[in-house]
Amino acid sequence: MSQAAETARLFFALWPERDLQAKLAAWAKQAAGKGRPTRRENIHLTLAFLGDIESALIADLIALARELSIAPFSLVLDQIGYWKHNRIIWCGAKQDPPALTALVGQLRARLDAAGIAYDHQPFVSHVTLVRNAPGLEAAPAWIPLMWSAADFALVTSVRIEGRVRYQVLHRFGAAAD
Ligand code: 2AM
Repeated sequence: MSQAAETARLFFALWPERDLQAKLAAWAKQAAGKGRPTRRENIHLTLAFLGDIESALIADLIALARELSIAPFSLVLDQIGYWKHNRIIWCGAKQDPPALTALVGQLRARLDAAGIAYDHQPFVSHVTLVRNAPGLEAAPAWIPLMWSAADFALVTSVRIEGRVRYQVLHRFGAAAD
């Protein structure tokens, strides 16, 4: 009997510095109400969600992402939103910087060329702050935050003692390598 290939749950993301994560997590805690705030160390912005992928392909993904050029950019987190359909409170930019749109386009084009499957839903940049939230009723005022991004990451989602934890496998871009 052949053994099932080992897989990992993977995605590419912008990964904020600890300080920005902490500010976002603090707001999320206050805004959560009966919802579940994202823990500080898990706060990120997904660029492409791959899902369960054979672990043997991780090296290929790293090689592919290394080829991309990322122009450092600033993302102004000046918008708070609530999606009723999945009960998520999120923050994002009213206007994505062209460098972010270009990065996502390049990344997805490379994945397409390599025949690697990912979630093809249109990219809507957002940072999930609260899950299972009833709404924005408990949310304090939002003060826009500036995110200076110079790299992106390949991340794996693992379950440790019943909790989902995201682990950065590799960083790519100006601040990486
Ligand atoms: P989110 O970006 O709205 O939080 C890991 O699961 C990350 O990938 C989460 O941040 C998650 O949602 C995002 N993601 C994007 N598409 C997904 C999908 N089809 N299934 C699960 N997670 C997805």
